[in-house]
Amino acid sequence: MTHADKPQVGLDALGIAVPSLTLELTKLAAARGVEPGKFLDGLGVTRMSIPPLDEDTVTLAARAGKQALEQGGIDPNDIGLLVVGTETAVDHSKPVASYVQGLLGLSKACRVFETKHACYGATAGLQNALDWIRAGSNDGKKALVIGADIARYGLKTPGEPTQGAGAVAMVLSEAPRLVAFDRMVGTYANDVLDFWRPLYSKDAVVDGHYSVGCYLDALEGAYRAYREKAERASATGATATSDAKHAFFSDRFAAIAYHVPYGKMATKAHRHLRGIDGDSAATTYAEQVAPSLVYPRQVGNIYTGSLYLALASLLAEDPRDLAGQSIGMFSYGSGSCAEFWSGTVQLGAQARVRSSGWAKLIESQRRLEMPEYEEILNAREAIDNRPHQPHVEGGGAEARYLGVQEHRRMYSSPTSG
Ligand code: HMG
Repeated sequence: MTHADKPQVGLDALGIAVPSLTLELTKLAAARGVEPGKFLDGLGVTRMSIPPLDEDTVTLAARAGKQALEQGGIDPNDIGLLVVGTETAVDHSKPVASYVQGLLGLSKACRVFETKHACYGATAGLQNALDWIRAGSNDGKKALVIGADIARYGLKTPGEPTQGAGAVAMVLSEAPRLVAFDRMVGTYANDVLDFWRPLYSKDAVVDGHYSVGCYLDALEGAYRAYREKAERASATGATATSDAKHAFFSDRFAAIAYHVPYGKMATKAHRHLRGIDGDSAATTYAEQVAPSLVYPRQVGNIYTGSLYLALASLLAEDPRDLAGQSIGMFSYGSGSCAEFWSGTVQLGAQARVRSSGWAKLIESQRRLEMPEYEEILNAREAIDNRPHQPHVEGGGAEARYLGVQEHRRMYSSPTSG
């Protein structure tokens, strides 16, 4: 089989869930006695999403999954693999994915599991799902991969302005209508303690400035590995594309979506990547990166879903026609593992995602005042002991966390309303 004959595998549909609440970082800055410019420009974040107490990782994942299935017009029985990547799971044993399988009414003939590797967890699920399809193990079925998290740091810590919450769901298939992913991947892993969450804590512990350096080292390792593979492949004629017209290697990408713990990190990452290419001016930020940061700047860090929120933002907000264009993807998970890979935007993909109304969804979040924000964060400490709140019939068509009864987490179903 020649390169051109290889079946395309990739992203077929995309869904997003954000909680109903948000905090403007100007309010946080005022309360913490910090210049607002530090959060807005220094970190590149304007707001952060905050989940109310009836929202958790399961409800976010289920809502994003439901939207992805609806956006793609996909029958739940066509899903043969469900993976939820998360680092804020709700149980030491039962996976978030099992709750989601039930809430979405997926087939019982479905492989269902959860993956964890900090923010890389959803990418681990995605790469495995792509290989599952490429190997033909899917038997004609599609995969649903979801990254869902509540990013939480302690009140009044340096990490506080880099919180957020949300989920991104991706349907992967052998006839992708949004992005066809290339098989070539550059991988880098390194045992570092830059960010972690001990078993006794709901808040992440982070060595903040060190973590920025670890992210950039991992980007360099993964990008160099990808670039070497691509250069080898083009030297042997295994790739169809000629790169002679590009001054720098990364010019081949119309855009690059990075993992976005906060907007400025993606800016730093892009500058670093262009430096590796030999472009010390790094003047391509506006076209190659800015459109992917529109949603992350308003939602904050959503850990496993952050890179894919950036991809959603790129597809929905980039004014250029990207059909047929190559894009780069960079995933980083603390601890650490990172990957750089690429894909091709499909014809009609941008119109398809624009009909999802994500900008309106994010804009409609209710703005919190500081006392309510702090009350919610403090109350979340005891969320896992929250007594069961009886479900009000007809109380909504969305999945909601109802508390714990006899050690069992209870949810209202998005399908029963
Ligand atoms: P900090 O020490 O409070 O901030 O914490 P700073 O002093 O470094 O300032 C931040 C930036 O604001 C600086 O710019 C300042 O110059 C600028 P930079 O030098 O970085 O370009 N600044 C201003 N700009 C405009 N107007 C002003 C002003 N004042 C200062 N008035 C830190 C920052 C990121 C360390 C902290 O927020 C933190 O610890 N966050 C959490 C960790 C994190 O997000 N790390 C990112 C890499 S690791 C990662 O991505 C993995 C992760 O997602 C987890 C996972 O994998 O699961 C986190």
